Formats: sequence, C-alpha cells, structure tokens
Amino acid sequence: MAYNDLRMDNQWLPFTPNRSFAKDPRIFVAADGMHFTTHDGRQVIDGISSLWCVGAGHNRKPINEAIKKQLDTLDYATAFSVSNDKAFRAAEMIAAMAPGDLNKVLFCNSGSEAADTSMKVALAYHRARGEGHRNIFIGRERGYHGVGFGGMSVGGIPANRKVYGTSLLPRVDHLRFIHDPVNHAYIHNAEPVWNEDLLLELENRILPLHDAGNIAAVIVEPVAGSAGWYVPPQGYLKRLREICDKHGILLIFDEVITGFGRLGTAFASDYYGVQPDMLNFAKAVTNGVFPLGGVVCTDRIYEAMMGAHGNAPEHAIEFFHGYTYSGHPVACAAAIATLDLFREEDLFQRAGDMGPVLGDAMHAALMGLPNVVGIRSLGLAAAVELAPIAGLPGKRAFDVFMDCYHHGVLVRNAGENLVFAPPYIVEKSQIETMVGTLADAIKRA
Ligand SMILES: Cc1ncc(COP(=O)(O)O)c(C=O)c1O
Repeated sequence: MAYNDLRMDNQWLPFTPNRSFAKDPRIFVAADGMHFTTHDGRQVIDGISSLWCVGAGHNRKPINEAIKKQLDTLDYATAFSVSNDKAFRAAEMIAAMAPGDLNKVLFCNSGSEAADTSMKVALAYHRARGEGHRNIFIGRERGYHGVGFGGMSVGGIPANRKVYGTSLLPRVDHLRFIHDPVNHAYIHNAEPVWNEDLLLELENRILPLHDAGNIAAVIVEPVAGSAGWYVPPQGYLKRLREICDKHGILLIFDEVITGFGRLGTAFASDYYGVQPDMLNFAKAVTNGVFPLGGVVCTDRIYEAMMGAHGNAPEHAIEFFHGYTYSGHPVACAAAIATLDLFREEDLFQRAGDMGPVLGDAMHAALMGLPNVVGIRSLGLAAAVELAPIAGLPGKRAFDVFMDCYHHGVLVRNAGENLVFAPPYIVEKSQIETMVGTLADAIKRA
C-alpha cells in the first residue's frame, strides 16, 4: 500500500511534528511479535514496545481471542451502579500482584486519567479524615503524568506545561530532578550512589515553605520514563517513603511505565522494596491492545473514604468520580488474558534477564561515539543522551530517530535522548540489531 493512497488531511497527530510528517510518513499497517509492517511493506523492529505497552509482543493470540470472545459475550455495560464480571476478575488479579495492602482498584482508561484520579482520591481521602486543608501536591522536575490538568500540573516537562500558565493547578511544587550529568552520566544496570542527599531539599525547603500539614501527596515515577529513562539515586524512594510517613503525606507511584514487568518485577515498587499509598498503572496491563488504566489504593484509603460516610444512608455514593468506560469489559478481558500470559510465559523474569543484555550492548556500542554524553540502563530499558545542537533542542535525537526508522528500528526520541524499551520477548540478536542501527545513526548524525 502506498501512503499516497491515504488521505492524510484530517488526522492531527499527537506529540508529533505534524508539518514534516506528511513529507516522510511513518505508517504501520500490521504487527507481529517484535515487528511492524510499514505502509510500504518494510519490517521495523518495535524497539520501544510501542511506548512501553506491548510487553508480550504483538499479535498475541490468547489476548486477541479473549477480546473476540468478550465482544460476543458482553460487549459493554455501564459502570455506574452496576458492573461486569471481567472488571471484578481483573481487579482481583491486579490487587493480588500489587504489593502489601494495595487492594482497591479504581479503573480508568489511560495513564493521564490515572494521574488525575489518584490526585482526586488524595484530596477526597484527606477531607474524609477531616484534613481538607491538605491540598498541595508535590511532583518532580521532568516528571510525566500525562496530559490532564492534574497530571500536567504535577508533571515537570517544560514543553508540556509552558503554554498553560495559570490554568495549571496553583498549589503544586516540584522536587529536584534525579539526574547528575557530571558524576552519573553513565548508569550501567545499577542504581547510582550519590554523595549528596537529594531529598534534603524536600525536608529543608519544600515542606517548611508550604507547611507539611498542608500537603496532600507526593507523586513520582519510580524511574522517570518519558523524560528519557532517568534512574533515582540508591535509597531515594525509601527515604521519600519515610519522609511522607513522618508528615502524613500520601505517596503516589506513577507506574504507568514501570508497572507489569519493565524492571523484571511486577512493579517498580517491588524492585525498590517501597510501597506507595497509591499505584497508577496503564499501558502494559492490556499489552497495549485496549485502553485501560487504573489506580490501586490501600485498604486504609478505601476504608477512610467509606468510613467518612458512616452516617450516610447506604444509597449514598462515597466518591463522585468515574468514567463511562471505567472497567470496560473488553478492556478487562484483555487485561486478564495479558496478565495470564505474562505469568504463563514468565515474562517479567524474561524482562529481568534481557535487561542486562540490552544495557551491556548499549554501553559497549555507544560509549565514546560522537556527541554521546550519557548512557543509562536499568531493567529492560536503556537511554543514550546526546549533546544538543546549539539553538535546535531535540533536533539531533529526532534525526537519529528518523535514521533508525529508515533502517528498520523504532527507537523513542525524548528530548536529547534515544530510548529503547523492547517487548520482553526480545532476542539477543534483535537487541544487537537495534543497538547497532542506533550506533550507526549516531555516527551519521
Ligand atoms: C508515567 C506516566 N504517567 C502517565 C502517562 C500518560 O499515559 P496516557 O498517555 O495513557 O494518558 C504516561 C505516558 O507515557 C507515563 O509514562
């Protein structure tokens, strides 16, 4: 199929340079396993699991079959005041995988909705306990929590925020970014050990400034994904947990990228041994094939929300929040089949095993190449950072992305970074192809 068979006048592409796209379109028409087929009949390796989604690889029959069967059984049912069997089963499976007493799953349809949902739960929870004054959120520089106004406000990627001015939530502050380009530009399958305590800033500046008693929640990605795979210092998340506990502040982990196997464990929370009060998920929960997101809350949060309504009549709704498609039966059928498949094929373990293969290949092939200023690998994801072209931020990485695409590899350009996060089924030879193609493109850039 030639792309000029398609009318391309009507789709406004998300997070994409639209004006240049039509001159050199990148259109997929099929996918299987690790590969896409393009509109012009070429094979392209999916080096990014289609943005951290397709952990089990493309076109997995058990998931496809589950979806088809669900469509023929219960296509859709409203989620308000009634529910469906698949939503309960998916919630049970997710709660069983989530650490500790993270047992109550609020479904939504995306990572952005999960961010806003978790922030609303935080506010409602504090109010239910008589602490409605806790309404400040702390995010982190270069964090990404989607594109809703809540997630954007706690997010810290400047380009995503800069045009929204005072429409962003007013009572928000941000932790410092977790990257040290001088001492820890190169992170090789390990947590960096910093001499400096990055969280002193939270204790000594942010909490006193706002009064800790006014803060509802801290929300962070355990590993900063969208910014370009930036890894926290050793002990950082544990210490963040301790500080939040000390001051009655909720801790939200946005595991939209790290959830369901990326670090070789079910969640980053397991990898780091730190349990949040809420855990946001999306993407890989359905292997990307059907939109589904959610927030897993602790029993304590749920009970506080129910308890606050102890004197309310039983017909009263406890939390005025939800989406038309919360717990969509087809999405939940996809999630059940995906989580079964992850378990049957031991795919989290496989991600854990292949992670060092990817990290080693990246460091071996890219270290010392022109314009390479950092390489970071942890779990089954790795990034290389390039020096920017003066006056043209992101251009060098974009050129490398395009070059890789034309040589059959989909890599993600994020700022000055190029990131790989392949499906967990990736083979060593495919990693070698991906990294080799990236190295050649960097040399040409
Ligand atoms: C950590 C994190 N949170 C939230 C989101 C937003 O998810 P969505 O694009 O499904 O709204 C993303 C997307 O990449 C993400 O990486």
